[in-house]
Amino acid sequence: MIIVTGATGQLGRQIVERLLTRVPAARIGVSVRDPQKAQTFADQGVRVRHGSFTDADSLAHAFEGATQVLIVSVDKMGEEAVRQHRPR
Ligand SMILES: NC(=O)c1ccc[n+]([C@@H]2O[C@H](COP(=O)([O-])OP(=O)(O)OC[C@H]3O[C@@H](n4cnc5c(N)ncnc54)[C@H](OP(=O)(O)O)[C@@H]3O)[C@@H](O)[C@H]2O)c1
Repeated sequence: MIIVTGATGQLGRQIVERLLTRVPAARIGVSVRDPQKAQTFADQGVRVRHGSFTDADSLAHAFEGATQVLIVSVDKMGEEAVRQHRPR
């Protein structure tokens, strides 16, 4: 399964829309802060799970079964970006 983060943002949404033209929806999952904002993807058969870079446990759940993960970096710069992207 291919997991995409930031799928409710500008870049991530376009990535998932493009992926849906290339692979079956059942092979795509999104890790998002607010699953309700990804309802249109869920309606198409994409697995939608809550995942936030500030909550490592949520990422473990959202990335479950991943063979590939596409991380869309957050819309922050500097120390805050480093803090959110650092592995825990
Ligand atoms: N837009 C482009 O064409 C483009 C091109 C090249 C590179 N980029 C880079 O790609 C990144 C995203 O850009 P964007 O334009 O797509 O920005 P965006 O629309 O603001 O999207 C940012 C995404 O990151 C998510 N996010 C923020 N904090 C998070 C956290 N703590 N945990 C998990 N997800 C979090 C947001 O979730 P919510 O939806 O819940 O807010 C949103 O989905 C930026 O680093 C930008 O520099 C963008």
